[in-house]
Amino acid sequence: MNRRKDHSRKKEPSVGPLTRRDFLKGAGVAVSTGMLAAHATSAEAAPETEVVGPGATSITLRVNGKTQPLSLEPRVTLLDALRNNLDLTGAKRVCDRGVCGTCTVLMDGKPVYACSVLAIEAEGREITTIEGLMKNGKPHPVMTAFVDNDAQQCGFCTPGFVVACAGFLTKHPNPTEEEVKNGLGGNLCRCGTYIGVRAAALEAAKAMKA
Ligand code: FES
Ligand code: FES
Repeated sequence: MNRRKDHSRKKEPSVGPLTRRDFLKGAGVAVSTGMLAAHATSAEAAPETEVVGPGATSITLRVNGKTQPLSLEPRVTLLDALRNNLDLTGAKRVCDRGVCGTCTVLMDGKPVYACSVLAIEAEGREITTIEGLMKNGKPHPVMTAFVDNDAQQCGFCTPGFVVACAGFLTKHPNPTEEEVKNGLGGNLCRCGTYIGVRAAALEAAKAMKA
């Protein structure tokens, strides 16, 4: 059978006196114009924001009670600033993407992943690293409890766990074991020391109250 293909354009369905194509074209212009007007209004109202970078800029961090003036590119993470610029290597890098918790530090008392915070974002905040938990040469009660409960094997995750635990116990001085488990759920240990870590946290809670 000899079939002939029809390549001719079908007639546009019409919307009132306009074709569908004319209607869509007009609507697009109207929406774009409306959006531009709204954008212009919000841009006028937006407060001025200082733009820094991509080169190095002056940043001042407060780390373990000390003021630390630095010159860093805005893309530098807090973890890199601590390890590479301030020689505070207690916070470790493993995943570098906010999963494992080995880089945990306290920011205004709250545990955060230092690999996921820019140094420039930490300006004006009080940063405490594992090194800053020692007071007058004495270990923090959480450190002592980790040793007493054999809460580490290779020890690579331990600084992050200790910092997270110290931050957790400050906010939850009377935790149950279940609360400790949930509170430290952001830290991973490949050696599987979780039982020792939870026992240490409960013991440290008692020591901190005393
Ligand atoms: S290195 Fe920061 S969460 Fe893993
Ligand atoms: S003690 Fe080895 S990863 Fe936790």
